[in-house]
Amino acid sequence: VRHGPALAIALAVGAVGGAASANEAFLRAEAVPVIRARGALPKAPDDAAWSAVAPTEVWVAPQRTVRLNDRDVNPRADAGQPARVEVRALSDGTKLALHLTWADRTEDRAPPDESARFGDAVAVEMPLEYGAGRRLPYVGMGDERAHVLVAMVRATTSGAPRAGTYVAAGFGSLTRAPLSWMEMAMAYDARAAVWRATFVRPLRAPEHDAGRALVPFAIAVWDGGARERGGNKSLSRWRVLHSTDAGVKPEPAYLAELAYGYGPGDAGSADRGRALVESTCVACHRFGAKQIAPPGMAPDLTHIGVIATWAYLRDSITQPSEVVVPGLRTTPMPWFSVDDKHQKHSKMPSFTNYTKEQLADVLAYLKSLGVAPTQSKESSR
Ligand code: HEC
Repeated sequence: VRHGPALAIALAVGAVGGAASANEAFLRAEAVPVIRARGALPKAPDDAAWSAVAPTEVWVAPQRTVRLNDRDVNPRADAGQPARVEVRALSDGTKLALHLTWADRTEDRAPPDESARFGDAVAVEMPLEYGAGRRLPYVGMGDERAHVLVAMVRATTSGAPRAGTYVAAGFGSLTRAPLSWMEMAMAYDARAAVWRATFVRPLRAPEHDAGRALVPFAIAVWDGGARERGGNKSLSRWRVLHSTDAGVKPEPAYLAELAYGYGPGDAGSADRGRALVESTCVACHRFGAKQIAPPGMAPDLTHIGVIATWAYLRDSITQPSEVVVPGLRTTPMPWFSVDDKHQKHSKMPSFTNYTKEQLADVLAYLKSLGVAPTQSKESSR
């Protein structure tokens, strides 16, 4: 069949329409808009000005990918459920202020220099480098090839929270990187049983640029009352700060990359995907009630739908050695080997034999893991 010019134009318009709707759907589901502040930026977590900004829900789920050797915490981590953090972002054109609110029934504070007691804590993570053509770092603290900047603040008994900035390149690789320009604060509201925290920084700093149209970020929350610390925490997936300020250049190519999963055909049937996953992947992975694989053989996927983006899941399945989870190499069953060129090779076979539809089905099922029905507003498209 030879298409006439009219049909060719109609097809082209259709394709553009699909991309535009994917971008819009992505921004609706994943972006936190950076709002232009009318006056001075509020810096205190309990500043009333924050209530005038509409919040965006960001879900976090207990980290179960790697089971840490921490008998005190693991049973609670296993019982933990995904939770919601409200995020607000304001800018005055020079600075960026992030505001986080999350529920916590107990106010837990630790002495500033004690590691055996656990204070409630929160962190914001951003890739050091990002943009079109650049894969996002592993969301749990980055990886060797893509580092992250971490700003963390922890409640202490001395009143002033303990705040620090770090650069990380994988689990357990936190290196202190003092950045004097990062201002952090947290405050507990006993009446509402919530913590509120603020992170205020220049949009553009020599060490890190957050003054762009699309800035990926992720959040981690520690509940000191549940003895969470270090790698035992709740974690979000990569989300994105979205600025439409006049001085900020839009990044359509990056947007199109990030929006994978939101286009027509990217997501298939979760029911069909479940059948594929339960026939193949359960041999190595544990998730939810399907705990057939030996523990520690591969990452636990119980909450993977909360923590992973569509693009990360796609790459995990089709090119596992490109996105190797920087797991601890001390586990009895290493998740990867390293060749003499320092290249990592995943122990997971790449599933390149899937058809486009089968891949879409598996992705739809993985995206449903750990996602509570109350999150469906965010995840249904
Ligand atoms: C032979 C064992 C094995 C099989 C079978 C297997 N995987 Fe994996 N998988 C692994 C290992 C080991 C890792 C960690 C190393 C890495 O990142 O590749 C992993 C990592 C992953 C990750 C990243 C997890 C995270 O926490 O970031 C996803 C997603 C994943 N696998 C999905 C699947 C799916 C879906 C299937 C079935 C289609 C599957 N795997 C089959 C061993 C396996």
